[in-house]
Amino acid sequence: MNLINKSLVVLALTVAATHVLAEPAKSLKHAQQVVEFRESLYKLLASNMAPLGAMAKGQIPLDSAVAEKHAARIYQLSLMMPDYLRTDTSMFKVKTEALPKIWQESDKFKQAMERLTKNAANLQQVAKSGDKTALKKAIVAVGKSCGGCHDDFKEED
Ligand code: HEC
Repeated sequence: MNLINKSLVVLALTVAATHVLAEPAKSLKHAQQVVEFRESLYKLLASNMAPLGAMAKGQIPLDSAVAEKHAARIYQLSLMMPDYLRTDTSMFKVKTEALPKIWQESDKFKQAMERLTKNAANLQQVAKSGDKTALKKAIVAVGKSCGGCHDDFKEED
């Protein structure tokens, strides 16, 4: 590939990456499907966060191996988030707690997703180290990245 072609590829990728969070849903049915997948993703996040939260609160014993497993899943799920949140459903009347701000302030939303990825990666590392005090702190940081995004982008329950 010559230099010009290479630069064009880089440019195309850059454009694709910056527009990754704005693709309107095509119909009400499409929007409903999107919401269903999106909520499924968050349910899986919650199912992995619950045992971690219980460990941090002292309701169940701190277990590094178990924490590492859940952190790895949260990390992977967080990487799926941009795909599942790309479709803007705000123009359709769907039952959702997702605020239109997600697509209006997509850079800020992207940062909130990346915060979860970063904190989940950190939790995996800390869990490997076996340091229980640091483990608790790293769990709390993951929990805060869930709550932080909800404060800004999710309707209150
Ligand atoms: C980058 C933003 C963001 C992050 C980070 C995030 N969430 Fe959410 N979450 C949302 C949004 C937006 C919704 C609303 C989705 C909808 O109703 O379509 C939601 C919905 C949920 C729901 C409700 C799902 C349902 O069935 O309606 C749960 C549970 C949840 N999140 C848990 C979590 C947990 C646990 C974490 C952290 C491990 C997390 N979320 C991280 C934005 C986020």
